[in-house]
Amino acid sequence: MARPAPTYVCQACGAVSSKWAGRCDACGEWNTLEEEAAGVGEAAHKTSLASAKGRAAKLELVGLKGDAPERPRAVTSIAEFDRVTGGGLVPGSAILVGGDPGIGKSTLLLQVAARLAGAGHVIYVSGEEAIAQVRLRASRLGLAEADVELAAATNLRDILATLEAAKPRLVVIDSIQTMWSDVLESAPGTVSQVRACAQELVRYAKRSGATVLLVGHVTKEGQIAGPRVVEHMVDTVLYFEGERGHQFRILRAVKNRFGPTDEIGVFEMTGAGLAEVANPSALFLSSRDEGASGSCVFAGIEGTRPVLVELQALVAPSPLGTPRRAVVGWDTGRLAMVLAVLETSAGLSLAGNDVYLNVAGGLRVGEPAADLAVAAALMSSHLNIPVPPHVVLFGEVALSGTIRRVTQTDARLKEAAKLGFKAAIVPARSREAEGDAKKRAKDEPALTTYEVADLNALLELLKEGALGA
Ligand code: TYD
Ligand code: MG
Repeated sequence: MARPAPTYVCQACGAVSSKWAGRCDACGEWNTLEEEAAGVGEAAHKTSLASAKGRAAKLELVGLKGDAPERPRAVTSIAEFDRVTGGGLVPGSAILVGGDPGIGKSTLLLQVAARLAGAGHVIYVSGEEAIAQVRLRASRLGLAEADVELAAATNLRDILATLEAAKPRLVVIDSIQTMWSDVLESAPGTVSQVRACAQELVRYAKRSGATVLLVGHVTKEGQIAGPRVVEHMVDTVLYFEGERGHQFRILRAVKNRFGPTDEIGVFEMTGAGLAEVANPSALFLSSRDEGASGSCVFAGIEGTRPVLVELQALVAPSPLGTPRRAVVGWDTGRLAMVLAVLETSAGLSLAGNDVYLNVAGGLRVGEPAADLAVAAALMSSHLNIPVPPHVVLFGEVALSGTIRRVTQTDARLKEAAKLGFKAAIVPARSREAEGDAKKRAKDEPALTTYEVADLNALLELLKEGALGA
């Protein structure tokens, strides 16, 4: 039999090509094509679909019939984790947990595994650490007594055999990049290995009803090396993110077949593992520099929860021909837009200035509702007028400079009032738009709201000092 022709697979996007090139045609990355021999298993499938008869699949109704009840979700009682998974782990589902190396994925999953141990086997397969290392970590986390079974293995065939025998309820695979299938010749961590191993493990989850948690490392560029190609195979994709220097960690659902995708869970990395943060706003605002110019508080919504964060801006004359724009925690394009609107609608001349914008605490804000707070922080820094520390802001800035209403006004105001804020700057007509005004009047939060129709109104408000102290 002739040796199968080699194929080249892009390690960044998974595109397959028949000859090597320095640059991938599909994604444009350089030096990512690697030779990967076609698997023995793949060659066996060469018979045409029409030539052999298939076996008919069993058809079932969408509704549950009879009395076989659906197996319940596994609730970990780590509220921040359960929230992100949409109310617990679904039996038979596969979940990818991605994140930078060292962010705390292994720690989180060991804690999750320990919570679910007891009722059924829970197996933690480590391909990166030796058993002794995982044990050491467990004892640091105070989980030495937990009924979690450990295995240090990377060969998928062995792992599947172990799982078939043990019939676990939950399996953690740490990490998918270290697993390898002997069906393929390529090295562990290559796209084809990662894809094949993930597919096999997802199939195992569906077949056995066990929940499989896969750890995937993300590269510097934010790609899960290889595992990007895994995202569509699994039921749920969670990202664990945070700034290395900060103790906050945010677990974010980016895909979830069993729940909402915009939920976040907030954790704090402590000496004894990850601790839940039930009230993130209080934490994000805890080390605030009150009364400084360029800082203000945005009342945001993350999933179903209001979250207040501090935004910091610095506008300083630039020594460079092309002023610098640097953003942490927000979208660069969005900042450019707000700057342009400030320039055209509010008459601020920012062109010759360096602009830095920072979301404190390591949170990434994706909501357009942050526009107004960003605009206020920029104005405040540029004009050196502090935004009073007891004020929150939210609203979307349109290209014309008008402020547009955003959703969940009441939830945002309530959270702000709860945390002791006294005033809110909101888009015009926000209050009448939300809910029944009469009903609200009763449990009205003790906040003064200032409605602004456009950026000029915001500027006036800041300049006048009408916001009180
Ligand atoms: P880890 O879970 O190993 O990260 P990942 O699996 O995502 O690569 O987390 C490693 C980091 O967490 C390490 O820098 C030390 C820190 N850490 C603590 O601060 N406290 C702890 O109790 C543990 C277990 C880890
Ligand atoms: Mg790890």
